[in-house]
Amino acid sequence: MAETCKMPDSSEIWSLGSKWTVIAVTALVAMIPMATFFLGPKIFFKIGSTFGYYLKKKTAGRRAQILELVKSDEKELVARGGGRSSDEWEKVNDEATTATKEDADWDGIVGFFHPFCNAGGGGERVLWAAIRATQKRWPNCKCIVYTGDHDADKAAILARVKDRFNIDLHAPTITFLYLTTRSWVLASSWPRFTLLGQSFGSLVLAWDAFSLLAPDIFVDTMGYAFSLAFCKLLFPEIPLGAYVHYPTISTDMVESLNSESATGSQGVNAGKGSGATGAGKKLYWQIFAMFYSWVGASIDVVMTNSSWTLEHIKSIWGEWRQELGKSNPVTVYPPVAVEELERAIDISASSENKREKALLYIAQFRPEKNHHLILESFAQFMATESPATKGAKLILIGSVRDDADSKRVYELRLLANELQIKDFVEFHLDAQWSEILDWLSRASVGVNGMWNEHFGIGVVEYQAAGLISVVHNSGGPKRDIVIDIDDKPTGYHATTAEEFATGFEKALALEDKMAWRIRARKSSQRFTDETFAKGWIVQMEKLVKLRRS
Ligand SMILES: *[C@@H]1O[C@H](CO)[C@@H](O)[C@H](O)[C@H]1NC(C)=O
Repeated sequence: MAETCKMPDSSEIWSLGSKWTVIAVTALVAMIPMATFFLGPKIFFKIGSTFGYYLKKKTAGRRAQILELVKSDEKELVARGGGRSSDEWEKVNDEATTATKEDADWDGIVGFFHPFCNAGGGGERVLWAAIRATQKRWPNCKCIVYTGDHDADKAAILARVKDRFNIDLHAPTITFLYLTTRSWVLASSWPRFTLLGQSFGSLVLAWDAFSLLAPDIFVDTMGYAFSLAFCKLLFPEIPLGAYVHYPTISTDMVESLNSESATGSQGVNAGKGSGATGAGKKLYWQIFAMFYSWVGASIDVVMTNSSWTLEHIKSIWGEWRQELGKSNPVTVYPPVAVEELERAIDISASSENKREKALLYIAQFRPEKNHHLILESFAQFMATESPATKGAKLILIGSVRDDADSKRVYELRLLANELQIKDFVEFHLDAQWSEILDWLSRASVGVNGMWNEHFGIGVVEYQAAGLISVVHNSGGPKRDIVIDIDDKPTGYHATTAEEFATGFEKALALEDKMAWRIRARKSSQRFTDETFAKGWIVQMEKLVKLRRS
């Protein structure tokens, strides 16, 4: 497979493109207040699209070249007998959601802005799953990934995607374009005014991207909302999509500077809003939040990774988006490996008999996981000597990363001894996946003790395995995961040790455990690869429609 874009070396990086990039972007940004004031926003947008026109003209050659390459790569793959398999085509139709699939032939270019695409984290999993879904829905469309990972070529990146996430991408229609100005968005490049600096940097990076190629649809999957707005300024005709993991600034954050406010006692900036520097910081954040809320209104389709993020995005972007008639943001949960657990673990009357009265807590031995609370709750529960306590045990599975973790495990063992539950508590350190899988199939209840966990992939895994959850009454486990299914519960929420103890009692004493397990598994269906792909495609269809109209 041919490399589509040659990778510049570092001397080239600084001498060539970036100087002009920075000058152009700075000029454009500096013009915003003046041009808007003297000429009105219309003229300013006119200037923006003139720049955009110039960029498009400049990159027309590269566009043609990429389309040619895609064609020849596709041919080569077919010649080697590696075309798309037919069941893949069937899946395309499964995942197509609109009644009319006539636009399946859409063959435009979708640009994915993900400058750290080779990082291998949860955000990257979303990127690759999104590209795969897009490829299946529109087999002729081309996906471009704008990345700054100069050390990895296409073959290496795709191999890693397969390895790390078990995601097979259709190679010919995916192209990587290499950005040279990624350092502009690093927090370390902006020791002061980081938010503003990084946002300016994301404009530089976006210009860098568009001077490589202006796509037909532009999607940001890393949270660079300012890059999207910049795209709208340069190319008003390009529909924009955003997948937001986390708001860049939230109303909570601005409020946390006030020590009197509800959130004022929490977070790193808690109560730092007093005095002159405090007032300055507050003003800075407020101004930034104002920019951010404008920027949010430029995006045509907004997806968030959780209901927590959705709430924050709505509160900061909602007003302007409504003003401009933009669609409501929606949550599209990132995919979790639910299918694998489903295949491996049976939920049936016979497997029910094999389940033990085990409460399972899978979590690293980190302080915020709150193992203490769980041990104390378990001790309270055991002290009741209710029928449910007979034969009950607590299984703690977790990895130990360093000495601090080992020390915590040691202290937890001491605590279990003190609480006189030592004989009913098992520690399994650094367990292999096969052992974890075994416990997921043998245990009855899944536990989570962390306050305000953003999501809780582990809790989804409990549900996929059919465990009844007893989780902290906060964050993702409460809001997103352990919710009612078919108007009936899938678990219990608890905050104090008494509440957890009651939760354990109730869960272990249930008569119809199997019905609960089936509901739990149904709940986990909201987080499968397939559900993600469907949700993603519904939103992408809106963008393709905008592009076609
Ligand atoms: C959403 O993204 C944030 C930031 O990366 C992360 O902390 C959170 O767990 C994610 N939520 C889900 C549902 O994956």
